[in-house]
Amino acid sequence: MTAKGHRGQRMLDSGKRRAAQARLWMGKGFAALGIGVALLGVTAGTARAEPAIPDDTLVLRLRQADPAHGERAFRKCRLCHKLDRGVSGSLGPTLYGVVGASVAGDSGYRRYSEALRTLGGLWTLERLDAYLKSPKSAVPGTSMAFVGIADPAERAALINWMNAHSDNPVEY
Ligand code: HEC
Repeated sequence: MTAKGHRGQRMLDSGKRRAAQARLWMGKGFAALGIGVALLGVTAGTARAEPAIPDDTLVLRLRQADPAHGERAFRKCRLCHKLDRGVSGSLGPTLYGVVGASVAGDSGYRRYSEALRTLGGLWTLERLDAYLKSPKSAVPGTSMAFVGIADPAERAALINWMNAHSDNPVEY
C-alpha cells in the first residue's frame, strides 16, 4: 500500500472513531431522555386515581393469548402450584378451575392467608390480572411470595392457560 493509501486509511479510521463516539454520545443522550420520560410516566401514573387501561384491553389480550406461551409461563408457578383437579401444590393451592371461581376456594389447601380468606368474591379476569401483576399490591397481606409479571401479554397467556384447565372455562 502507498503512503497516501495509509494516510487515507488513517483518516478513514479516525472518521469511523468520531462516528462511533457520536453514536455513543447520542446513545447516552437517548438513555437520559428515556429515563426522563420514564420518570415523567411514573409521576403521571401516581397522579392518576384510576388505572387508565379499560377492561376490554384485557379481553383483547386474552383472545390473542397463545396457549404455548401460557404453558411456558406457567413454569414460574409450578414450584408452588399444580393445575390438576383437586391437587394442591406443595406450597400453594390448586389452580385448576381457579378462573372465575371463589377466592381461596381450594378446600384441600389449609394455609390461605387471612388476607385472601377475607377478600371474598370471585377470581374475575380483572382481579386475576391485577393479582398476577403484583400479588402484594393487589391483595396486601397475601402469602404468595411471588414478585408478579409485568408483561400484560404474559399475564393474559397465563390466565388463558389456567382457564383451559377448568370444568367451567370463562368465555371471552
Ligand atoms: C413461591 C410460591 C408461589 C409461586 C411461585 C406462585 N404462587 Fe400463587 N400462590 C402461592 C400461595 C402461598 C398462595 C396462597 C396465597 C394466600 O393465601 O394469600 C397462592 C395463591 C394463588 C392464587 C389464588 C388461588 C386461590 O385459591 O384463591 C392464584 C390465582 C395464584 N396463586 C396464581 C399464581 C400464578 C399464575 C403463578 C405463576 C405466575 C403463581 N401463583 C406463583 C404461592 C405461589
